[in-house]
Amino acid sequence: MIGRIGSIYRAAAAAALLFTSLLPAASAGPRIDPAGDQRAFQAYFERAFPGVALDDFANGPYAVNKEMRKQWEEIMQFPPYDFALDDGKRLFEAPFKNGKSYADCFPDRGIGIRQSYPYFDLRSGEVVTLDLAINRCREQNGEKPLPYEVGDMAAIDAYMASTSRGKPFDIRIPDDPRALAAYENGKKFFYERRGQLNFSCASCHVQAAGRRMRGDILAPALGMLASFPIYRSDWGSMGTVDRRFVSCNEQVRSLPLKPEDEAYRDLEYFLSYMSNGVAIAGPGTRP
Ligand code: HEC
Repeated sequence: MIGRIGSIYRAAAAAALLFTSLLPAASAGPRIDPAGDQRAFQAYFERAFPGVALDDFANGPYAVNKEMRKQWEEIMQFPPYDFALDDGKRLFEAPFKNGKSYADCFPDRGIGIRQSYPYFDLRSGEVVTLDLAINRCREQNGEKPLPYEVGDMAAIDAYMASTSRGKPFDIRIPDDPRALAAYENGKKFFYERRGQLNFSCASCHVQAAGRRMRGDILAPALGMLASFPIYRSDWGSMGTVDRRFVSCNEQVRSLPLKPEDEAYRDLEYFLSYMSNGVAIAGPGTRP
């Protein structure tokens, strides 16, 4: 396995240069330029995958591999996330013990808002993901928080995402030093090498995007969160963004963080911002 990963890494090492150039130059001092990063990021994937429309990047491996796309079109005749979607709608609409419901916690009563998450909360000075907001809503209403990676959380995500299908990611980075720091922190997490295999997220999802790793085709990082939550056949169930981050950290034998750890939220903020313009397509299905 290590040999295969090693060859992916070597074959793509040249592309790494572009991304080091996205890091702020030491002599210029720390210049944080999310809009410039985003342009370079999207341009890289447009060049790497000519002919793939921006919205199609939401479909991950299926966007960049014809063979897999055929299998997917068959699976989608009976989407395996349908059960979760039904559960999610029911859970979302069910009142809490105090008579309130999720709708009371969100703008537009929670319908069609997925594309604006995560956002930077200027009051608390931190990144708030949709899943964190769901649990805070529960706690404010006297309910216990849900586990983050699977189950009811994934079902509620599925329903909320479905009400935003077709709406492009619209992540804002307010001109506030704390928001810029959170963005920069997420970016650093994405490009930093870690684990026994010494891989960064970018090693697999930028430089090696579209290549085969074991049975998988590596999803391009552009648009990679637009289909969440996803049903994965090899999980046999739905998973949230946290589940994916944890399992990708484990792939390189590095210790995963706790779901919704600040670093994961910053990472989700960075990745979603990089994907601005890609329409929400969740819930999704994967091999
Ligand atoms: C050793 C390679 C490797 C590394 C490093 C890695 N991943 Fe992954 N990742 C995978 C594989 C394999 C999959 C499943 C196939 C696919 O969809 O790409 C995956 C899937 C994903 C997906 C779901 C994509 C989709 O369309 O379903 C996300 C999101 C993701 N990874 C994020 C990350 C992040 C963030 C990091 C860094 C913390 C990371 N990955 C590091 C191998 C890797």
